[in-house]
Amino acid sequence: MKLWGGRFETGPSEVFEQFSGSLHFDRKLLFADCQGSQAFARALAKQGILTGSEADQLVEAFRQIGEEAADPKYLDAANDEDVHTFVIRKLQDKAGALSAKIHTGRSRNEQVSLDVRLYLRAACDSISEQLADLMGGLLALAHKHSEAVIPGYTHLRRAQAVLWPHYLLAYFEMFSRDVERVRQTRARIDVMPLGSGALAGSGFPFDRQAIAGDLGFPSITRNSMDVSGDRDFALDFLYSRSLIMLHLSRLAEDWILYSSEEFNWMTLGDGVTSGSSLMPQKKNPDSLELIRGKSGRVFGDLTSLFVTMKGLPMTYNRDMQEDKEPLFDAFHQTSGSLSMARAVAESIVLNPAVPAAATEESWVIATDLAEELARNGVPFHRAHELVGQFVLESIRAGKRPADWTPESLAAFAPEFKPQMARLLSPAEGMKSREIPGGTGPSSVAGALREAAARLEQLRSSLG
Ligand code: ARG
Repeated sequence: MKLWGGRFETGPSEVFEQFSGSLHFDRKLLFADCQGSQAFARALAKQGILTGSEADQLVEAFRQIGEEAADPKYLDAANDEDVHTFVIRKLQDKAGALSAKIHTGRSRNEQVSLDVRLYLRAACDSISEQLADLMGGLLALAHKHSEAVIPGYTHLRRAQAVLWPHYLLAYFEMFSRDVERVRQTRARIDVMPLGSGALAGSGFPFDRQAIAGDLGFPSITRNSMDVSGDRDFALDFLYSRSLIMLHLSRLAEDWILYSSEEFNWMTLGDGVTSGSSLMPQKKNPDSLELIRGKSGRVFGDLTSLFVTMKGLPMTYNRDMQEDKEPLFDAFHQTSGSLSMARAVAESIVLNPAVPAAATEESWVIATDLAEELARNGVPFHRAHELVGQFVLESIRAGKRPADWTPESLAAFAPEFKPQMARLLSPAEGMKSREIPGGTGPSSVAGALREAAARLEQLRSSLG
């Protein structure tokens, strides 16, 4: 069936039908379409277009359609133009002539906006839960090795010693900003568009606030033309997913490196790694590589909708049908990647001795020493220069920090005092970083407690 046709002398060509049909992907909106149409049937009853019992009959028919669609084969033989057309054909099968009234004063342009909003709203809720689960996984991993010391890097060169939990809490912060961003995105999605008509506003004086209340939206859209041409909320969704994937991709890259033979800090569980068909010894971090790979795909989804929307004349244009596949793809890839990252986090076993040795054999203590000199009155630039010379001399002599004694340190330059030798041990310098947000052991312990409390709060807000 078609929702249009009277004006045409012949039907659409097969090639056009094939080309323009969207049912094979927008079928994902079926539940949202039925939910929205139930509310719309109730609104039509208030207008006197449907009687109360007619509305009840249609609401029940939509319920049945939603239920039957749980069977994955339900849509297989269908070749309707889109999911909205499919649902109305099914409605016709169930409610006969009465079904012809359902589209009174409604356009697919607003219907598609409504359905996508309903779908994305639920998607935001499930992503927030998955983010919370991953954040919980990171905290568990932090507690598993709460005292481990690792080199922190800049330029992928050993920079300063940090606590392992401090490193993990950095990702906790990124994901907690993601939760916040998902919440903001959800709020912009959560606005009810019905009543906008095709572009000019519906010709029937629906109580739009009541429809919003019926569907659990706190507010209604303000301009019918905006509704018809707007996909900002979809772009917000794709952007917030893209940042989640960006964070996951960087985490994946870290763990690919840290679990390599070259780093050898950690082992990934057998359950999240795969072997080689040729090289029997291999245990590859494919799960993490796929997360990194899928991030590019999700950025592509965002870019694709940006480019689709760019330069479209007001208001609706059929180009906008191309919004759905990137949205569904971004949702599914992000959701899969979050589950995968959590499973990897649960499988990780850190070998704390290896990163600890990396801090001891390198010069991550240099800054600690220079700052201690500054604390003792040496101007920092002079202290920096002096410690730089000390490092250079050590490298020339093949000495590691532990090879210096309090006496030999003090003999290197008059500014060095024997008691400064304690800073040659990487775990010592961290104690001077007891600043909020720093890697000092008490700061980190406090940050861990605070993160756990925030996660608890987030979990209870998700219900
Ligand atoms: N399948 C269409 C879409 O997703 C529904 C809206 C059709 N509206 C139209 N004016 N042809 O965009």
